[in-house]
Parts: sequence; C-alpha cells; structure tokens
Amino acid sequence: MDICSIARPEIVAMKPYQSARNSASSDGILLNANEAPATFVDDPDWKRLSLNRYPSPQPAQLVSRMAELYGVSESQLLLTRGSDEGIDLLTRVFCRAGQDAIVECSPCFGMYRIAATIQGARVIDVPRQAENGFQIDFDALQRAIEEQQGVRLVFLTSPNNPTGDLIEPDQLERVLRACEDKALVVMDEAYIEFCPAASASELLEQWPQLVVLRTLSKAWAAAAVRCGIVIANPVVIELLKRVIAPYPLASTAVDAAMQATTEDAAGRQKRFLAAVRQGRQDLYEFLLKCYWVSDTWQSKANFILMRVTDADELVNWCGDRGIRVRNFNSQPQLAGCVRLTIGSTVEMTALKSALQAYGDQLNGERV
Ligand SMILES: Cc1ncc(COP(=O)(O)O)c(C=O)c1O
Repeated sequence: MDICSIARPEIVAMKPYQSARNSASSDGILLNANEAPATFVDDPDWKRLSLNRYPSPQPAQLVSRMAELYGVSESQLLLTRGSDEGIDLLTRVFCRAGQDAIVECSPCFGMYRIAATIQGARVIDVPRQAENGFQIDFDALQRAIEEQQGVRLVFLTSPNNPTGDLIEPDQLERVLRACEDKALVVMDEAYIEFCPAASASELLEQWPQLVVLRTLSKAWAAAAVRCGIVIANPVVIELLKRVIAPYPLASTAVDAAMQATTEDAAGRQKRFLAAVRQGRQDLYEFLLKCYWVSDTWQSKANFILMRVTDADELVNWCGDRGIRVRNFNSQPQLAGCVRLTIGSTVEMTALKSALQAYGDQLNGERV
C-alpha cells in the first residue's frame, strides 16, 4: 500500500521545517537557536534540565524507552502531547478539508469528531448497537468504508470509551482489509493495559495501514505529563513529523515521562492494574444489586458505564457529596448514562456509599 497516495498531497510535497535541534548537533557552543546561554533557575534539579535550551524534538532516551515498552522499532514511533495530539496530527495529514472523511463508531471518544471538524473533514458515524452491548456493526462499517467517498481514517477504540468493550483480532483484520489502499485504521488503545488483550501493534508488519495509539495518561498514571505515542509504519511517522510542532515535548515532561515508566514504576503499575480490575468487578457487582440501575456494561477499562432513570439527578447527588462522575445523558444512544472511573479503595467506598444513599432516598420517595 502506498501511504503517500492517501495523505494530503501538499503535506507530501512540502519541504519540512528544519529546527535548530534537528539540523545540527546539540553539542558545542550553541549559537543557532537564539536561546539564553544559561538558566536563571538555581535549584539543581531544574538546572539539570537545561531550561534555557530547546529540547530535542524527539528525545532519544524516551523514544528508546517507549520502543522497548511497546515492543516496536524506534522508526515506528512518534511521541506527542498526549494521544489527543496524535489524533489531531493524523487528521491534519490525511484529511483534505471539504473532501475527505473520518469514520467513527459512536458512542466513542469525542476527540475524533472534534479533530475532524477543526480540519474541515466529514464525520461518518457508524453507530454501535446499543441493544447488543454496544458492539460495532461490522457489516455497516465495512459498507461505509467501501461505499462512502473520501474515507481516510477509521477510528476504532479498544477498549472503547465510554462503553468499555473490546475489538477482537478478526474484527480488526476485517476492517484493515476493507481499508486496503484507501484509508488508515487507527486503533486507539488508551485503556488496553486494563485488560489481558494483546496490542494490535503485533500486526504492524503485516498491515501498513494500521496505526496504534498509546498513552501514559491512564495505566501509567501520568496524565499530567501529556505524553502519547503514535505507533505506525515509518512512512506514516515521517508524514506526521512534517506537521508536528518543532519542539512538542517540554524537557520537564520528558523527564517526568522517564520517571513515570521506570522498572520501579512498572512494578507499581502491576499492583495498580490488579487493584483496578478488582475495583471494577466489585463496583460492577454492586451496581447489579442496585434496583434503580437499569443497565450496566462489563468493562475492560478503568471505568464502568451504567444507565439510570435520571442521570442529571444522580450526577448532582454525587456532586453534592464531592464526587464527580461523568454525565453522558445528552449523547446519542446514552440517555440516562453515567460513567464511573475506578478510583482508590477509599474513593470507591465513598462512591458506593453515595450510590447506596441515592437508592435509599429513591426508595423512600416510592413508598
Ligand atoms: C479513548 C481515548 N483516547 C485518547 C484519549 C486521550 O488521551 P491523552 O491523555 O493521551 O491525550 C482519551 C482520554 O480520555 C481516551 O479516552
């Protein structure tokens, strides 16, 4: 598959910007980037970061750590300011305004649509089947890819936010086949560590049109760092590098990302993942016993979606008790739905006690 033939021609033709750090070594006397010769900050911890200097556009140490973590080669990887930036870059590189389209399967993460709208790309929605555990309608998805004009990106999320379900390998392969020579398939795996499923990045050698998104924001407990990872065919990575800002990652963030993913952190992550799985199961069983919860879905991520009669009332009830839960009431197919993140044991106890009290007062009203 010729990736360049589906990218925006002006991005393919463009001569990329050469930043000072890209075009010369960062050793020696640095008089090529209009920086200050020294920082004003005295603290040795901060001084170590050379705050007066522009950071490396793709810091070698972090690229190497991420390649090791995700089992891919460095040329298959781009570090971004969160997956949000990866989504934005893909849309800007592959969708021509007013001509091309992305495909999403709602309900899903809201930023696919936002990125497409900002770029002037059409959004083709293939709604999930609410009556079937929010499974994707793969027949309808295949039809949309084959019949609609200008499809360039197909966003799939596994596990999906907010429904928590997985895409099976044979389902992914079906979409990859349908996209051959016309579009990229973007597998957003923001939550994959919370379940035993294997990453789709294993399939990258076989499918040049596959892109995988990973993030440090969820299972690495580092949302503040803003570090996302696009994993794809090196041709896709090179195209994204043409569009990404010259210095997207602050030195402070790179340092934090290294610290957040050490071997020690990986050990703590194992315990965290086990705790989330346990907390998710406990909360699921608790919700099944709540007579006022009309639906709840088994989730493979660090959250659970449930449906109640009056989502606004429940969200306000929790809010009055200092507990913030996410209201999806106004979204298509999600009337009455609220998403609950799996927090610490203490947080889950507080949540359950607020939910119990909510049910008790509803019961009181009914009597
Ligand atoms: C499915 C999905 N993808 C991507 C993101 C964005 O992640 P990041 O923090 O890396 O920008 C989120 C955030 O909630 C998400 O739910």
